[in-house]
Amino acid sequence: MTDLHCTYLGLPLKSPIVASPSPLTGEVDTIAELERYGAGAIVLPSLFEEQIEHEANEIDRLMSINADSYGEATSFFPDVDDYNSGVDRYLELVESAKATVDVPVIASLNGASVGGWLRYGGLLEDAGADAVEINLYTVAADPMVSGSELESEQLELIAVLAGELGVPLAVKISPFYSSLGSFLVGVQEAGAAGIVMFNRFYQPDLDLETLGVESRLSLSTPEELRLPLRWTGIMRQYLSMSIAGTTGVHSGYDVAKLVLVGADVAMTASSVLRNGAPHLATIEAQLRDWMSEHEYESVEQMRGAVRSEAAADPAGFERANYIGNLATYTSRHFDQRPISLRTN
Ligand SMILES: Cc1cc2nc3c(=O)[nH]c(=O)nc-3n(C[C@H](O)[C@H](O)[C@H](O)COP(=O)(O)O)c2cc1C
Repeated sequence: MTDLHCTYLGLPLKSPIVASPSPLTGEVDTIAELERYGAGAIVLPSLFEEQIEHEANEIDRLMSINADSYGEATSFFPDVDDYNSGVDRYLELVESAKATVDVPVIASLNGASVGGWLRYGGLLEDAGADAVEINLYTVAADPMVSGSELESEQLELIAVLAGELGVPLAVKISPFYSSLGSFLVGVQEAGAAGIVMFNRFYQPDLDLETLGVESRLSLSTPEELRLPLRWTGIMRQYLSMSIAGTTGVHSGYDVAKLVLVGADVAMTASSVLRNGAPHLATIEAQLRDWMSEHEYESVEQMRGAVRSEAAADPAGFERANYIGNLATYTSRHFDQRPISLRTN
């Protein structure tokens, strides 16, 4: 029997197949199902900054109405301590998930401001989360903020959070950094226990009839695995922190690829949203089949077995590969070389 045990963020896992945040990880029943079908850990949906701000505004609003009211009216308004807020519901989810499953439960925060996150990170830890994942979901659209300013702020946030939290911190990022390799090393130096590569941005579309902006949520395809695969392969040698590969993990073969280039775990959301929680068992069976066929006894033995050809000179490798790919495309698709290249 192949051994799928591994370690992620210092936590022992029974499998490298991890349920990424999605509506399925937001309900205790489906969390239990995900564990039953083999999830090695569960990452809860994020507690969003906007959610917290909305709640804070709502509390302020209620408190100010309260202050202007007659004494007998005060009982109509909730006491701020008892306010059944988004945060409270989230903490309840952490507690009930922990009480329901044996696998590690990782809580997730989505935001970029230092102050608030310290408090909420601490609350998630107190509620029993085994680790906290912070999702740096930022669209860097402010022309007055430079890349290095934005990155410094994010690294500061990570350092403060990692210093305060008593549980490991994972950082989920997008691929959109001007020097991704350097940023990843910064994340590790700031004290993160792991990196989750990559976030998937939901791109708005334009409806040509209404001229309104439509937000369309589309699930990923296996093609999208190539980005985390490439960056895991390039960066494994520079990072001792855990690496979770995510976006485009749809099969056990995708998990095998990520582990082979050095990922500690592979996270999936779209595949279980599309096929249901039982798909995790299919992914596990495919991974085990591939391992047996290729005579790997454990994922530990597989990890990093394929060293990135890019390791010595990633930039050179990428350019050579790019040029090679373009040449293959040209000769395969047009007789079919461009006319200027034909020799007769
Ligand atoms: C409906 C839906 C909800 C999601 N909610 C969250 C979330 O709350 N926090 C988060 O970090 N990622 C969230 N994600 C992103 C996924 O966890 C995952 O990173 C992304 O979809 C890429 O993985 P995939 O290719 O397996 O879908 C969500 C994705 C979907 C499709």
